[in-house]
Amino acid sequence: MLSNPLIAAERKEERHHFMMKLLCGFTLLLAIAVAYYIYIPLPKTISEPWKLMVLDATFRGVVMMGDVAHSMGLSHRVRVINSAIVNFESLVPITNQEIQIEDILFDGVHVRVYQPPGQDGKLRRAVMFIHGGGWALGAPKLGSYDSLCRQMAADLDAVVVTVDYRMAPDVHFPVQYEECVQAAKHFLRPEVLTKYSVNPERVAVCGDSAGGNLAAAVAQRIGTDNTTTVKFKLQVLVYPVLQALDFNTASYQQNQNVPILYRRLMARFWLEYLGADLKLVHSLMINNHTAQDQSLMSLIRSKLDWTTLLPKRVIKHYKPVFPVTGSLSILKDIPALLDTRAAPLLAEDVVLRMAPRAYIMTGEHDVLRDDGMMYARRLELAGVSVTNEHYEDGFHGCVSFGFWPCYFSVGIRAVQNYIAWLAKHL
Ligand SMILES: *[C@@H]1O[C@H](CO)[C@@H](O)[C@H](O)[C@H]1NC(C)=O
Ligand SMILES: *[C@@H]1O[C@H](CO)[C@@H](O)[C@H](O)[C@H]1NC(C)=O
Repeated sequence: MLSNPLIAAERKEERHHFMMKLLCGFTLLLAIAVAYYIYIPLPKTISEPWKLMVLDATFRGVVMMGDVAHSMGLSHRVRVINSAIVNFESLVPITNQEIQIEDILFDGVHVRVYQPPGQDGKLRRAVMFIHGGGWALGAPKLGSYDSLCRQMAADLDAVVVTVDYRMAPDVHFPVQYEECVQAAKHFLRPEVLTKYSVNPERVAVCGDSAGGNLAAAVAQRIGTDNTTTVKFKLQVLVYPVLQALDFNTASYQQNQNVPILYRRLMARFWLEYLGADLKLVHSLMINNHTAQDQSLMSLIRSKLDWTTLLPKRVIKHYKPVFPVTGSLSILKDIPALLDTRAAPLLAEDVVLRMAPRAYIMTGEHDVLRDDGMMYARRLELAGVSVTNEHYEDGFHGCVSFGFWPCYFSVGIRAVQNYIAWLAKHL
């Protein structure tokens, strides 16, 4: 065997070069794959688009992990997503540490009560807060929701009660709703308000997203319930979800692919909340459940007719989508789709008239923009005073991203503005 040390050294160098090239190529491919995964085209006016892309990619990754674990029978998809949320929320440092907390039961429902320190005998204002997360996700006592409640308690010098209602997949509609009603009725009892030194004429109910849905439904219920003498003075609904009959409102059409609440995800949350078959998601997305052959719809359609309830400037060029024929069984199989406790937008005017003064926050880049705007209009037509604060750069969930380590300027502004409104009107 001939062995030339020079040739051997050359070969080694060649191999080394080859490995380096391979590594570079691989890194480049990986970078392209990551960028491709993260990059999504976003409207120019949305708040901090790159941050949102990274947040969205993370969220999509978690949802995908949940789906994989679910299909392998390891865990329910919702539990996987929720444990990721809990891990993430645990990173958020606790703010306003002077606020005292108490975890207790209100009529069997878990709540946390936040109270500012010092009590000079004068009565305080109060806010009942109901967190969002598609009736399935969210950790009210951790991270961003905890920070939000502490901030409300501190800035408003108010007692804040956050409802830790049970969620899907453990429970479905109407349990989430009933637990919020129970907690509200308990809190509004005169002796309970006295215990916390709360002025019964200055109590608000507030919620974001699915929590805005529950807050609106609770506000309707308390407004019409003649067994509760104390009523809410105000309701604050932050990008609330209010109906599941039209997944093709102008905002659903415009924002169906805008993170982080994609139309498909919202339809899935609804089906999970109502305990229905997730396979129906596509039928819902094309409004097959409310097609023109649904006789039931003729009575209801006007309550969510966005062509008349919304201003022209937000409708733009969008047209209603109602197929001529659809899937007749869906509304019969899932009657909760028509239940005002699940879909407060469907309430009658006589119910709306009894509802408290409202602040409704909406975002331009949110599938739920029109749910909120239609409700604002219907409340107004029923004679309720409404402030609709609309953010041109707002996206769904931004209020939960007003806190370190993940904040967006629109989230910070939105939190400040709604608390300022409460400070003025509560
Ligand atoms: C309470 O409300 C119900 C319907 O919501 C009504 O039928 C009933 O008469 C009311 N009771 C009183 C005492 O007003
Ligand atoms: C929608 O309804 C039409 C008419 O009944 C039916 O042919 C179609 O399969 C349905 N689509 C979905 C996704 O349910």
